[in-house]
Amino acid sequence: MTKQFSLPRGTNDILPGEMVLWQDMEDKARRLLATYNFKEIRTPLFEQTILFKRSLGQTSEVVKKQLLELASAQKEPSGSKDEGFALRPEGTASVVRSYIENSMDRKEALTKLFYIGPMFRGERPQKGRLRQFHQIGVEAIGANTTSPYLDAEVIMLNVELLAALGAKDFRLKINTLGSPEDKENFSKALRKSLQKDVGKLCDDCKERFERNVFRILDCKNESCQALVAGLHLGHGHLSEASRRYYNQLKDILRSAEVLFEEVPALVRGLDYYTHTVFEITQASLGSQDALSAGGRYNNLVAQLGGPSVDAVGFACGMERILLAMPAETKSRESRLMAYVIALDDQVFPKACRIARGLRAAGITSDINYKVSSLKSQMRSADKAKSRYVLILGEEEDKKGVVALKDMATGEQQEIKEDMLASFFQGKE
Ligand code: HAM
Repeated sequence: MTKQFSLPRGTNDILPGEMVLWQDMEDKARRLLATYNFKEIRTPLFEQTILFKRSLGQTSEVVKKQLLELASAQKEPSGSKDEGFALRPEGTASVVRSYIENSMDRKEALTKLFYIGPMFRGERPQKGRLRQFHQIGVEAIGANTTSPYLDAEVIMLNVELLAALGAKDFRLKINTLGSPEDKENFSKALRKSLQKDVGKLCDDCKERFERNVFRILDCKNESCQALVAGLHLGHGHLSEASRRYYNQLKDILRSAEVLFEEVPALVRGLDYYTHTVFEITQASLGSQDALSAGGRYNNLVAQLGGPSVDAVGFACGMERILLAMPAETKSRESRLMAYVIALDDQVFPKACRIARGLRAAGITSDINYKVSSLKSQMRSADKAKSRYVLILGEEEDKKGVVALKDMATGEQQEIKEDMLASFFQGKE
């Protein structure tokens, strides 16, 4: 058999064997987020391209290099506001679009939403960097909810979520960009300090210097990084009010005993952030070490045509959490409880009835559809990784019992058919 088709680079099949782990992560996330009163939202996997350009910023790497745009044949009829669509590279822009479109601001003062699902970025794939990856994201949006307590709560929720999902040894890094005016001052100050060295920047950063100087701080080019390391980045650009806000946030985190590091060069790659920004990293992940990231975005909703409301949120990368999980946390037992074997065609219909009866009692069970020798059927049972095997032959049929084998101990016993369901109940 020659292989004709292969998985697109930078994507993964989540195979049935790994599914338990994914479902487990999702269940834990849903349970924890519900305790914080966050409600789930599902938005389309694609949106108008212009939505992402306006929210993430024309100069962000995600928009400039990574948007996966859909073919032109699928465009809206000409004359509409924007004709193109792109697969969503992140969830915040879509959630804000939906918040505005559904007038959620009229329904509650603070709207707390979360999402779990795939995101798409046309990146060069490497360890921890995929073209299709999954995020668990959280957005708290509402009028006048700029409060360092909400920032702190969202950060603490992020830490708690990562711990609940089994991630270990991660570090929380925080910074503030200040208000839009402070951000503008920060950008001017950065430009001033880099002015004399523009010639030493990489070609991309020369352009970034003109269009969005913050992006230089994230550049991976060695000479750019050396220049950035020599900058004296501080918080001189902050207004008194922004400084107070940031100090309050740090006080709240300290009093809640949340460990954090301040990183003045942390500016995040997306344009919408104001004030608080944060990232949670894990050293074992190498160059793609961010498990999660987020921050405040007080202007985005109004900028996209909605009411003037504040917002804060984060998103965790699920594949990265899995990469960072210790191996022992990853191993999961098979959930198949009973595997039914019929030793001849006469008893096969009864074996099917037994399996159906167990399922009706909520017990996971399967059946071997190919009646063959006991030895070969036991091999199939082994592959199915069932905890118990039920063997039904002519003799058992006459006695109204089945032979029940515990696959872990090898012990075998006879059990009456009508006792089967109660035997398994409570074992799962
Ligand atoms: P982001 O930093 O672009 O922020 O992505 C958040 C997380 O998604 C990253 O920390 C990482 O774990 C994961 N991630 C991003 N790109 C990839 C990739 N190519 N392959 C694998 N994992 C990846 C956002 O997306 C913002 N929307 C977060 C946010 C929500 N800010 C406010 N609210």
